[in-house]
Amino acid sequence: MLKGKIVDLVIVERTDLNIVKNWINDVDFVGEFEPFQQFTLAMLEKEYDKKSEYNEYFIQNKEGVRIGLIMHFKAGDQIGIGYMLVPLERGKGYGSEAVKIMVDYIFLHKNIVRIQAETHTSNIASQRVLEKAGFQKEGVLRKSFFSRGVWRDTAMFSILRDEWEKPKVLPLGYNFN
Ligand SMILES: CC(C)(COP(=O)(O)OP(=O)(O)OC[C@H]1O[C@@H](n2cnc3c(N)ncnc32)[C@H](O)[C@@H]1OP(=O)(O)O)[C@@H](O)C(=O)NCCC(=O)NCCS
Repeated sequence: MLKGKIVDLVIVERTDLNIVKNWINDVDFVGEFEPFQQFTLAMLEKEYDKKSEYNEYFIQNKEGVRIGLIMHFKAGDQIGIGYMLVPLERGKGYGSEAVKIMVDYIFLHKNIVRIQAETHTSNIASQRVLEKAGFQKEGVLRKSFFSRGVWRDTAMFSILRDEWEKPKVLPLGYNFN
């Protein structure tokens, strides 16, 4: 578990995939900006079994309730991240801390120099979350994905290892299991 002050990140087990399926098949969970697809449990299990490392985590509050998802994935030679909270838990600072924890974890444990995230240009909450974790906006990818019948622009954000400097939430030594 990756322990923060107001949330923890807990690895998604194969047996948890039904929860993930119900969330990501729900348009309210995915939010108004992200591409929306439907997945069967079998599709998620197949993807899960292909993974060479665990990369998807529940965002869990301090009462142990799962309130969202955060993941990291390969983006060229570097790493990309994505995140979503259940609608009732948005706007309470949980997304900001979850992203800071993920960034700390990646830079502490993976030999890469860049983490990136793409977000819809109108997704103010997502952009603030990234800025608060130290990401900089690099530019706009015009009409880079199609969702809800519209070709949409996305903003590319990144943080470099030199800009991160030191952990914001995680201590340098901690138990990871
Ligand atoms: C994006 C998301 C994860 C942000 O997490 P969150 O916990 O709601 O965000 P926080 O409470 O940590 O707030 C972060 C900042 O955004 C601001 N913010 C939050 N919701 C906002 C909104 N609806 N509009 C404008 N600003 C908003 C907050 O004020 C805060 O900024 P501040 O500290 O300068 O005041 C969450 O809103 C979400 O799950 N959205 C739907 C899925 C999604 O779009 N995921 C991102 C894909 S790139």
